[in-house]
Amino acid sequence: MKLSSLLPSALYLFSATSAALEQRTGVVRTGDGVSLSYTQSGPRRGQQLLFIPGWRQTAAEWRKQVDYFAGAGFRVTTYDMRGHGESEKPDFGYRISRFAADLNDVLEELHLKDVTIVGHSMGCSVAWAWWDQYPKARSHVSSFVLADQSAVMVRDPHWTEEQAAELSSIFTADAVYDLANDMAAQLPGLVKSMFTSSISESDYQWILSQNTKMSDANAAALLIDHALRDWRDVLPRITVPTLVVAGNASIFPPAGIEWVASQIPGAEHYTFSSEEKGSHFAFWENSGKFNALVEEFLNA
Ligand SMILES: *[C@@H]1O[C@H](CO)[C@@H](O)[C@H](O)[C@H]1NC(C)=O
Repeated sequence: MKLSSLLPSALYLFSATSAALEQRTGVVRTGDGVSLSYTQSGPRRGQQLLFIPGWRQTAAEWRKQVDYFAGAGFRVTTYDMRGHGESEKPDFGYRISRFAADLNDVLEELHLKDVTIVGHSMGCSVAWAWWDQYPKARSHVSSFVLADQSAVMVRDPHWTEEQAAELSSIFTADAVYDLANDMAAQLPGLVKSMFTSSISESDYQWILSQNTKMSDANAAALLIDHALRDWRDVLPRITVPTLVVAGNASIFPPAGIEWVASQIPGAEHYTFSSEEKGSHFAFWENSGKFNALVEEFLNA
């Protein structure tokens, strides 16, 4: 065999090994003393990506993105929010404003610069709150990828059906409190509704087990705060390139997610069709398409 044909695979092995060697797991202490678990993968000098999970979800659920982007030469960070996954679970701080402060602590402690923040669901709300509350730190973020979060989850009872539909405000306030007060019973069905019917039983059970790492009481407190926020005034003030991702088979109908994209200056958006498994978890159910979209956006 000629050396020239050996070389690419040898180089590939070398880079794959060195990327794996640079995997690091640790803890960030927040300003109010809570330990958040984080993982970093990929070459240390790679372009920075930070993935933020949704409500009750975990950093481990991003593994199809972590593997792909670390392998593609990015430095990929994920973390578990307070009360979630492997992070500490204090009995305080379950509100989006505190989660934005926690995000700022993660960015500072890990010295993340020129970072693209990829948020899923409530992870988008955390990013929006952070953008609103920490204007001096905005220069550290180079772009956003926002997956499937409406700007207003709870409809104002004075709105028409059309107004609620335009924003994908899928909850009434009563529905949020009903869910918060009946969390244990409703969680399995709620999680199932976030996927297409083609989710395997083992994937579903695993995702459910990630959700139950958070206590129902903490999840309920956070849900109420999260659901009642309104981000409409923040979106037009986002000044970094943004990709918004929606799904035609999501619990959030795509109209309100496309509305989010329409409000962010210059934002791009993509809506996964039902055939493309465009559920609330398109990044999990169709990771190939999701990763390709994000990579294309980052390379543009
Ligand atoms: C979107 O979903 C509706 C049903 O909810 C279906 O009729 C339509 O064909 C879907 N479109 C795409 C592009 O997936």
